[in-house]
Amino acid sequence: MIKNKLMKTYARPDVIFEKGDGSYLYDKDQNAYLDFVAGVAVNALGHCSPVVTEAIEKQSKQLIHLSNLFWTDAQLDLAEFLINESNHEEVFFVNSGTEAIETAIKIARKYGKGANENKGDILYLENSFHGRTVGALSLTGQLKYQADFMPLMGKVKMGKVNSIADLESKISENTCALFLEPIQAEGGVVSLNSEFIKAARSLCDKYEALLVFDEVQCGIGRIGTFYAYESIGVIPDILCLAKGLGGGFPIGAVLANKKANVLELGDHGCTFGGSPLACATSHAVVSVVKEQRFLDSVKEKGKYIKDKLEAALEGNNSFKSVEGKGMLLGLHLNIEAKAIVEAAFKEKLLIIRAGEKVIRIVPALNISNNEIDKGLDILIKILRK
Ligand SMILES: Cc1ncc(COP(=O)(O)O)c(C=O)c1O
Repeated sequence: MIKNKLMKTYARPDVIFEKGDGSYLYDKDQNAYLDFVAGVAVNALGHCSPVVTEAIEKQSKQLIHLSNLFWTDAQLDLAEFLINESNHEEVFFVNSGTEAIETAIKIARKYGKGANENKGDILYLENSFHGRTVGALSLTGQLKYQADFMPLMGKVKMGKVNSIADLESKISENTCALFLEPIQAEGGVVSLNSEFIKAARSLCDKYEALLVFDEVQCGIGRIGTFYAYESIGVIPDILCLAKGLGGGFPIGAVLANKKANVLELGDHGCTFGGSPLACATSHAVVSVVKEQRFLDSVKEKGKYIKDKLEAALEGNNSFKSVEGKGMLLGLHLNIEAKAIVEAAFKEKLLIIRAGEKVIRIVPALNISNNEIDKGLDILIKILRK
């Protein structure tokens, strides 16, 4: 069986999907599955949105790839869009969230070296997830992902979630950067509290360290503002983006402010990063997502999901709480989430876990109210059993 020839890094149900349309996926027998996963918070506009397919079609007939040795309007237009929406000065394009983090690590280290040889320490938080390559994994505060791959990158230190005292004890003149996800997604949908993020900003300022927000999962409209930091009210020096940025087409980006503007000719590169095809597709997606009406609808739908789950599950022994913001939500349970995910799959609802006891709800941002109700009714029915 050819399935056995794929490295077994993912556990997948025994179904082959053939087609996607909006918030539905179809298997080979034309069974429809309601998708609350959206490519793991990627398909911001659903599967095969005409916005995405038309942009791909148009650009693919014009220019697909030419490397970063030459300029294209597609890349310049997306850069202008992202910079104009942000408080940042420069952008570097990559293909994934992990690559965005790796880029930020290099910026941080070079920034530190610019001050002095000892300023190379990078702080990150426990329970975080920043990616699977060696650098990004070194900043991922979950031993289960790291254990078999030691030794990882040196000069890193892990801080405690939402503990200002702990951060104060770990940050120093030797810290070049602090990496954090404003809402930890893979780690179980855990929001960092606003006092902590504000303290992180002022401690980074005090010790002249860069504050890096990993908005790979929570950015690009997912929590109801275009950039997640707009909801948080703290501006990071560096912003890492990916997932929703391409609406399903691979693209990532790193935005840096003046302080973090340290990369020079030859310092970094990416063969495929910022290809005209990726940039034109992303530009079409972000133009839709950044509309205020669209962002408001994300907030409304997110609130609706949260309220409905809380009302329906109050008093249920399995239910703990609903955490997160916008449409990056975690249904925290007192029981293992795996069985719930499997039961939902049987009912043709796709959901994923975030940790052992959390169900992550990250549907397409344009999912309809009927689809939300249909999915939630299935989930609630399973949890009430
Ligand atoms: C917050 C965060 N950072 C980084 C990554 C890594 O992104 P990618 O899988 O695109 O490399 C992820 C992926 O889930 C993520 O959620």
